[in-house]
Amino acid sequence: YGDPSQKIDYVFKLVLIGDSGVGKSQILSRYARNEFSMDSKATIGVEFQTRTLVMDHKSVKAQIWDTAGQERYRAVTSAYYRGAVGAMLVYDVTRRQTFDHIPRWLEELRGHADKNIVIILIGNKSDLEDQRAISMEDAKEFAEKEGLFFLETSALNAVNVETAFSTVLTEIF
Ligand code: GTP
Ligand code: MG
Repeated sequence: YGDPSQKIDYVFKLVLIGDSGVGKSQILSRYARNEFSMDSKATIGVEFQTRTLVMDHKSVKAQIWDTAGQERYRAVTSAYYRGAVGAMLVYDVTRRQTFDHIPRWLEELRGHADKNIVIILIGNKSDLEDQRAISMEDAKEFAEKEGLFFLETSALNAVNVETAFSTVLTEIF
């Protein structure tokens, strides 16, 4: 995942948002360290991880911020969004409520982030097909209406996690 000694041409801040338990921290862990944990603990406050990649002969450091979905553990909202150029808006494909809350997350995001922020809607846990509660069509339609990118991912099986980040980073770059 990149040579740490190389010089960095760009640093891009990305933020993960969505309800508690949708898999934000595991998506990040999969992307930054290629690791996954089934007994992931709820995030308290803010954490971040980075991954350095090369895009078009430039080295890009993605600095990805992760906060608690639970209100009581969340940090100061304005600081979290400050300087962010990309956002991953995550719901759990097996829990309808997490999808129903997406408009609220979007409202918070649009209220605090830069107006040009690149946003991707992510339906995580696509590996749990037999428990699916949100169809891909419904999510896609919502994303199109709101002008968001959209993908379903599985942090567990490492499906589309790379693609989700590269979609956002390519659009920013
Ligand atoms: P908060 O920190 O409370 O906001 O939650 P979070 O969104 O960070 O959720 P987290 O990454 O901690 O994951 C919650 C639970 O879902 C954990 O038990 C994970 O192992 C599980 N999980 C995350 N991603 C996947 C996935 O792609 N598939 C399956 N089957 N489980 C997943
Ligand atoms: Mg978390």
